[in-house]
Amino acid sequence: MKNKMQIKTIGEPILRDICAPVTDIDAARKILADMELCMIAATGAGLAAPQVGVPLRMFIIRTEPTEDSEIIKMINPEILKKSDTRVPHEEGCLSILGPDDYPVFCDVMRPEKITVTWFDETGAAHKREFDGFAARVIQHEMDHLDGVLFVDHLSSLNRERVMSKVRKRKA
Ligand code: CO
Repeated sequence: MKNKMQIKTIGEPILRDICAPVTDIDAARKILADMELCMIAATGAGLAAPQVGVPLRMFIIRTEPTEDSEIIKMINPEILKKSDTRVPHEEGCLSILGPDDYPVFCDVMRPEKITVTWFDETGAAHKREFDGFAARVIQHEMDHLDGVLFVDHLSSLNRERVMSKVRKRKA
C-alpha cells in the first residue's frame, strides 16, 4: 500500500451509513488527496469517502476508463436531472471483491445522462452534464453516500451470482 487508507469491504457497517454533508473544505481536501492515491493504487475508476471509513458526502471519479483520464473530486454532490433513458453497463466496486481479490462485475441498469452539481476542493461550485462512463461512475459513487451498493440494484439471481463469489473470498 502506498498510503495508510484501507478500503472497507461489503459487510462492514459504514458502507451502509447515510453520509453527512462536508462542512470543512480544508479537511476534505486532505482526505480527498489521500483518496486519490488510494484509488490510483487500487486501479479503480471511483472511490467514495465511506469506502475508506469517512462517512462524508464526497468522492473522486475518473471520467474515462483510462490511466490518463481526467480525475474529478466532488464534494456535496447532487444529481439535478436524470434522463428517462436507462441503459445497462458493467459495474464493479473496490468494496465488493471476489476470491482473487479483484472486483466482481455485473451489468446494472441506470439513467444514461445526468446533470450534477458539486463543490471542488477549493470550495468552488460546479454544474455539468455527464453521459457514458462518467455518468455511470458518478451514480455508483452517489449511491455509496446513501449506503447503497451496486448489488442492491440487481435481480435476486444476479445478486446471488455476485455474492457467492464474495463469500468464496471471505471463507
Ligand atoms: Co463502489
